[in-house]
Amino acid sequence: MNIILLGPPGAGKGTQARTLVEERGLVQLSTGDMLRAAKSSGTEMGNLVADVMARGDLVTDEIVIGLIEERLNSDEGGNGFIFDGFPRTLAQADALGELLAKHGKTLDDVVEMRVNDDALVARVTGRSTCADCGEVYHDETRPVPADGKCIKCGGTTFTRRADDNEESMRNRLLTYYRETSPLIGYYYANEKLRSIDGLGPIDEVKARVDGALSA
Ligand code: AP5
Ligand code: ZN
Repeated sequence: MNIILLGPPGAGKGTQARTLVEERGLVQLSTGDMLRAAKSSGTEMGNLVADVMARGDLVTDEIVIGLIEERLNSDEGGNGFIFDGFPRTLAQADALGELLAKHGKTLDDVVEMRVNDDALVARVTGRSTCADCGEVYHDETRPVPADGKCIKCGGTTFTRRADDNEESMRNRLLTYYRETSPLIGYYYANEKLRSIDGLGPIDEVKARVDGALSA
């Protein structure tokens, strides 16, 4: 199955995607993670996008569509893909449809995760990530264990993202409402949209995601 997790920054897309990878053998394609990897390995493209990302603006459609195309061409789909943070514009949504069709794949569900703006700001400003395995934590709702070791890999280094500050977050929200929220109508019209409440404990949200998936 191929699914999109759609929602504003901090909605919990990455958190839920990681569980779906473990439980359903899906492959997570996060354009944010791909861009951050390019940035930290210092590629030309990574240097080009670093400032754009720190401000909370969108990277060009051309770059992110290229990243997704590369991964779809390498055909590592397993049981299917979870698109996390992609598409983010109508042009990206059209391109994804064309790429999936080219590979004989279909889009099964688009799960929209709804979370209010105050909660989104609190989530991203409290987020940290294990530098070794990418496990995501939150200072209050999912703290790093008291022994300072990652529950997944035992790693002891946790990083904060350059764009997880209040100023960038305001811009990321604005960008979401301006550029990405039209996709809700787009996928509704395509009869793919399933909207869930993204507020509440992570396990409860997970149950809602499971309930929203058609298979
Ligand atoms: P990206 O990395 O995609 O960031 P984002 O969309 O802003 O989403 P986040 O990663 O912030 O949030 P999430 O929904 O994954 O939440 P998470 O699970 O971590 O993009 C970054 C940048 O890259 C963009 O601004 C843009 O510049 C560029 N970019 C990326 N893709 C692009 C594209 N397609 N086109 C153009 N540019 C692109 O959870 C957040 C926090 O909340 C965590 O601390 C977590 O522990 C906590 N949490 C999760 N669930 C719950 C819960 N149920 N209750 C309480 N806390 C929770
Ligand atoms: Zn870890």
